[in-house]
Amino acid sequence: MAQVLAGLGTSHVPVIGRTLKAGTQAEVGFKPFYDRFEAVKAWAETQKPTVAVVIYNDHGLNFFLDHMPTFALGVATDYRPADEGFGEPVPRIFQGAPDLGWHMVNSLIADDFDISTCRKMELDHACTTALDLIWGADSVPPVAIIPVVINAVQPPFPKPSRCLAFGCALGKAIRSYTKDARVLMIGSGGLSHELGQFGKINQPFDLMCMDKIVGEPEALAAYDNDQIVDLAGAQGVELMTWLVMRGALASTRPDVLASIYHAPISHTGGAMMLMSDSQS
Ligand SMILES: [Fe+2]
Repeated sequence: MAQVLAGLGTSHVPVIGRTLKAGTQAEVGFKPFYDRFEAVKAWAETQKPTVAVVIYNDHGLNFFLDHMPTFALGVATDYRPADEGFGEPVPRIFQGAPDLGWHMVNSLIADDFDISTCRKMELDHACTTALDLIWGADSVPPVAIIPVVINAVQPPFPKPSRCLAFGCALGKAIRSYTKDARVLMIGSGGLSHELGQFGKINQPFDLMCMDKIVGEPEALAAYDNDQIVDLAGAQGVELMTWLVMRGALASTRPDVLASIYHAPISHTGGAMMLMSDSQS
């Protein structure tokens, strides 16, 4: 049977991936953020997840303003990173999990989440940096991946409450898969930041989110997106990726295995939290 082992929330700015590739983690101002990932690496080493469901917002590689699904899920057999304007990435092929992916699609649609289904997707930094932080930027991770894209780019966005419910449906779908899979949910985004107003960070709001996401995610889901934009900046709505990840955990109050808030990560309120899902 498939099980959800844990949920990881993390910020995802492009400089993280570039720094990892250059090996300059010790030279930049957010070393504590990288150092805290040692605990996530150790968790992955012992728990050995086989699948990572990565929930993130696509930054224009697959979907742009002319075509913007609210929720989309990848069912490809493999994926490749693509150039986002920072130069051609090192060629890598990430293994997909199409059988589990199609099971999730069918389960989600049965639960009234009419998602877009993607047989082909290119990966951007929001997907790869979370994986690179755990398994390194020079190789492919030892897990299959299922990309799940949330529209956090062009209004109207899904409501935060809908994202939490979507995460619940994702978790239910995974737990009803009869084949073996040890799943790590990754919510990649946020926290507070706004392109064009770099440095617009609301640390008290970010810390409140990291507190509530553990045992009171409904309190965060009660915000509407206009309120989140006011409080956390235009890209602060990437908090939705954390809500989807948290919704997939069955535990009422998952154990926090590691966390850090280190701001800024570049121009972003930088956060990471790993929660164990002991109820799965
Ligand atoms: Fe982003």
